[in-house]
Amino acid sequence: MAQLKKVQISNQHWKKVKSEALVVGVFKGGGLSPVGKDVNSGFNGVIKSAIKNGDFKGKSNETLMFYTGGSSSRILLVGLGKKKEFDLEKLRQAGGTAAKVLQGKDKTSASAEIPGMDSLNFSAADTTKAFVEGAILGSYKFLDYKTDDENNTVLKSLTIVGGGSRSGLHQGKIVGESVCLARDLAAHPSNVATPSRLASEARKIARAGGMTCKVMNRDQFTKLGMGAFASVAQGADEPPKFILLEYRGGKKGDKPFAFVGKGITFDTGGISIKPSSKMDEMKYDMCGAAAVLGIMKAVAGLKPNRNIVAAIAATENMPGGRASKPGDIVKAYNGKTIEILNTDAEGRLVLADALAYVSKHHDPKYMVNFATLTGAVIVALGHIASGVMGTDKKLVQSILKAGETSGERVWELPLWDDYCDDVKSKIADVKNLGASGQAGTIAGGAFLKAFAGETPWAHLDIAGTAWWDKDRPYIPPGPSGVAVRLSLELLNILR
Ligand code: BES
Ligand code: MN
Ligand code: ZN
Repeated sequence: MAQLKKVQISNQHWKKVKSEALVVGVFKGGGLSPVGKDVNSGFNGVIKSAIKNGDFKGKSNETLMFYTGGSSSRILLVGLGKKKEFDLEKLRQAGGTAAKVLQGKDKTSASAEIPGMDSLNFSAADTTKAFVEGAILGSYKFLDYKTDDENNTVLKSLTIVGGGSRSGLHQGKIVGESVCLARDLAAHPSNVATPSRLASEARKIARAGGMTCKVMNRDQFTKLGMGAFASVAQGADEPPKFILLEYRGGKKGDKPFAFVGKGITFDTGGISIKPSSKMDEMKYDMCGAAAVLGIMKAVAGLKPNRNIVAAIAATENMPGGRASKPGDIVKAYNGKTIEILNTDAEGRLVLADALAYVSKHHDPKYMVNFATLTGAVIVALGHIASGVMGTDKKLVQSILKAGETSGERVWELPLWDDYCDDVKSKIADVKNLGASGQAGTIAGGAFLKAFAGETPWAHLDIAGTAWWDKDRPYIPPGPSGVAVRLSLELLNILR
């Protein structure tokens, strides 16, 4: 793991704080916050001249570095865009951009004023949190396997000057670190990020957060009746794991909030094998599980007064002499029979048992699952938004809202009965494919719905958002850690 780790608030005047650069946010047209104004007037109107001469416009994520010759001699301006369009996402981006530009010039320490903290629309806690979150996430690099020392500078320390909220900083740090854990687990290859490794991460989180952790091995979950999960795992020599975490921060009788993750640590497709081009990316097929672990790591740190359950079905999907075959019929944990028409539609199989198990044993108030379930969601929404489907209006609406606030955008797809008809099998209860060539993402949701029971439930298809090769202000190319921040926001707004 490599990312910004030390973030603090200093009460000292910004001139007194030692760092390699002072970061100053500038709105389009030149609007400045107090420290920015101070810098400008302290150094002969230097920021205003840069704007007047057209060298800096204040566009979102625009940067300009210059020297004042004073004690805090290096200044980095970061554009915030138009003041009336300013929001927490812009601030997150500004934090990420600042961290990336500075570490790109081999700087390891920075000080910064939280831009827009004096704005009327947002609290000091929210702005501090957003900026810190952005800086940590923007500084993230995955260096675990690099043995040379090129391009490996990571910002080490950030000092907030000119005010800031301690609770916002605390939250931003925990959230940032938790998203980085999800990214790391995804970035490790499948020979390292095995189901056993996910289980040991879960145990570590449980220890730190006073949670209980239960891990079932192949024999245990097979004996329990998880025939769908077992059928996917049967082709793999790498030991599969069913992982459960339970956090009790709420009242004894309060129904828990449940998070469920697809943890396919490598998806070859099984007997319905995938083409080899880009198959390496299928090490990311456990991003749903990584999100769940990221959420629970944050829960361990933030200690919300809620009861929360997390479940992960983790296995490789491999071809082989013992692997399941197209046409096989298996029985899921809730007793429903499934005709497996394509062994590459394995995510819905492992989730079927996980959802049924959690619904039966934990009777959650709400249950949300995350899965890199379909290539079709990339066709529909690209890498910009996750797809959401669910059985509960309030839950889905809250997810859409949490997506907006967190900057992790989500778009709803319908789960009408007509789609559910598409996953009915001729000889079993359901089949793991929908209508050929049609609405592939919805077919995945329609299948899962049959296993959520009566529990208000939603499914997030994160196949498009869990990783991307584009460099964004606070999301470097690679795994994004998506759904951690959204879910924490969801816990804030949905009781
Ligand atoms: N893990 C894949 C989905 C996926 C594909 C995610 C590409 C990201 C990029 C999933 O298990 C899968 O293979 N889905 C099939 C379903 C189909 C067989 C109904 C797909 O999308 O092709
Ligand atoms: Mn697959
Ligand atoms: Zn898969």
